[in-house]
Amino acid sequence: MTANHELQFTPEGKLKHFLSIEGLSKSLLTEILDTAESFASVSDQQVKKFPLLRGKTIINLFFENSTRTRTTFDLAATRLSADVLNMDISTSATSKGETLLDTIRNLEAMHVDMFVVRHSISGAAHFIARHVAPYISVINAGDGNHAHPTQAMLDMFTIRRVKQDFSQLRVAIVGDILHSRVARSQIQALNTLGVPEIHVIAPKTLLPAKVETLGVKVFNDMEKGIQEADVVIMLRLQKERMTGAFLPTESEYYKCYGLTQDKLKSAKPDAIVMHPGPINRGVEIASSVADGMSSVILKQVSYGIAVRMAIMSMTMQAAGTQ
Ligand code: CP
Repeated sequence: MTANHELQFTPEGKLKHFLSIEGLSKSLLTEILDTAESFASVSDQQVKKFPLLRGKTIINLFFENSTRTRTTFDLAATRLSADVLNMDISTSATSKGETLLDTIRNLEAMHVDMFVVRHSISGAAHFIARHVAPYISVINAGDGNHAHPTQAMLDMFTIRRVKQDFSQLRVAIVGDILHSRVARSQIQALNTLGVPEIHVIAPKTLLPAKVETLGVKVFNDMEKGIQEADVVIMLRLQKERMTGAFLPTESEYYKCYGLTQDKLKSAKPDAIVMHPGPINRGVEIASSVADGMSSVILKQVSYGIAVRMAIMSMTMQAAGTQ
């Protein structure tokens, strides 16, 4: 067990911080999915609130932009009856040179119970978890190109809801694997949950070195890579993390790796198309596919609320015993 892995748990072995999928057991991931299922099943009822986090204060600390993750964390916390504060980093004292640790110390002094953190630097959420008081939980809402574990869990929830059983699936992940924190977390979750075939498809310039050691089969040809796939996950080009020229042109990329109705015919007839968002129409996915019958992209967003409710309630319960 690594120090990073141990950091996530109480001495009694309860999940207190949710920072990475790496090293988490199949039974824990399944417990998260089952807990999320119990929240999702009441999401259509008129009264959607649970008193589980009443009296708790949660701060959404987003140093990078977000639409889906921040909003669904906000809704999840509200539905668990917590008080939520969305920090506006652009108007905070960070712009006056305050360090991350000083920001955290000051917020901690306001009796916060949980930080939900997004940061452009890999390891930022781990750093905060290492320095907060023992009764505070930290949830990683995306750090650099390292991990986006709650996104991976809502993706697993979506796959399980549609396909039921992970043990017979071929899952294809297409696009900018090199810069994608989502892909890293998805691959860890798919492997842990027992998916036998995980394909990654990208040009050589957008694949990490030794990517096959992550437990995936590598393809540079899109149609071969998505052949007979049950699930096709599309990723956007993470231009904000690119430091050089990784591609000839976007139109060339679309021709080779953009998911069109025609290319989708290589996958199984009942294949689902997923995307963590934001989507770039005409770059990695055609509008006819993004809005088509196979797409579950907006379902992923909806399920994000229940999955984040599950993770928040489980971690807060563990931190409350500290
Ligand atoms: N999937 C995802 O992280 O989207 P946002 O950047 O909008 O939160």
